[in-house]
Amino acid sequence: MVEDPWRALAGPFVDDAYATVKGRVRTFVLHRQLMRHLPPPPATVLDLGGGAGHQSLPLARLGYDVTVLDRSEAMLARAEGRLAHEPDDVRSRVNLVRASGEAAADATGGRRFAAVLCHGVLMYQPAPEPLVDVMGQCVEPGGVVSIMALNAQTMAVRPALEHRWADALTGFDATTEIGVLGAQTRGDTVEHLSGLLQRAGVEPQAWYGVWLFSDWLDLPVGETDVEAVAAVELEASLRDPYRQLSRVFHLVGTSRLQSGQ
Ligand SMILES: C[S@@+](CC[C@H](N)C(=O)[O-])C[C@H]1O[C@@H](n2cnc3c(N)ncnc32)[C@H](O)[C@@H]1O
Repeated sequence: MVEDPWRALAGPFVDDAYATVKGRVRTFVLHRQLMRHLPPPPATVLDLGGGAGHQSLPLARLGYDVTVLDRSEAMLARAEGRLAHEPDDVRSRVNLVRASGEAAADATGGRRFAAVLCHGVLMYQPAPEPLVDVMGQCVEPGGVVSIMALNAQTMAVRPALEHRWADALTGFDATTEIGVLGAQTRGDTVEHLSGLLQRAGVEPQAWYGVWLFSDWLDLPVGETDVEAVAAVELEASLRDPYRQLSRVFHLVGTSRLQSGQ
């Protein structure tokens, strides 16, 4: 059995990162951006590398039929734990599948979904191509693909803010870094992923930043008006030059109407 790297990261990610101001901003901003593109519920959503379901459980609450697919037993156990607090109707709309993203088409029986999400996953892959191709295979014609990826163009910012000037200097041309969870992460660009989506039969529609100021500032939860920060971050995520500086970006596309791409 392959070692589950998320066994050790599940706590820091689910309990710690999501509880920060930045974590809350991430959930809020991504959700608001996503709702600009999703068809109304009920519609089917595949959350590829969906982890504990932070992005897709809110969709199930709204009436979407959600499949959370992840290769980590530890992360799916977290999803299960979070689901246990939901009412029966929400629980009945969520299906947890343990499989690698690369095998998602088989693991979901060749089903096509109205939307395929892949948030915070590509940065842990050696290369984005296999999962982008899977997104193209799993989305129905006219359906939505939503990717959140690490921004390879802002890699100098974090080391600079941490006064690691030698790392900041190499960060300008870096494509990988040790991320906040201590794992090796890989950055992408909007342009490159847009090209890969097109190759997979998905037309890019829009891209956004996700968080900016809350990455740069120390914002203690108890002392911060999180709603006010989130409102500012949402606005920054929609416009240049702010969105270009975001540490991660959100790219949304629509599958071309012909099937069999
Ligand atoms: C940072 S978490 C993001 C979870 C969720 N998408 C979210 O936004 O909250 C990354 C998740 O991707 C999963 N993952 C990474 N590579 C994967 C792969 N190749 N196939 C399936 N899951 C994968 C990990 O197990 C982990 O749960």
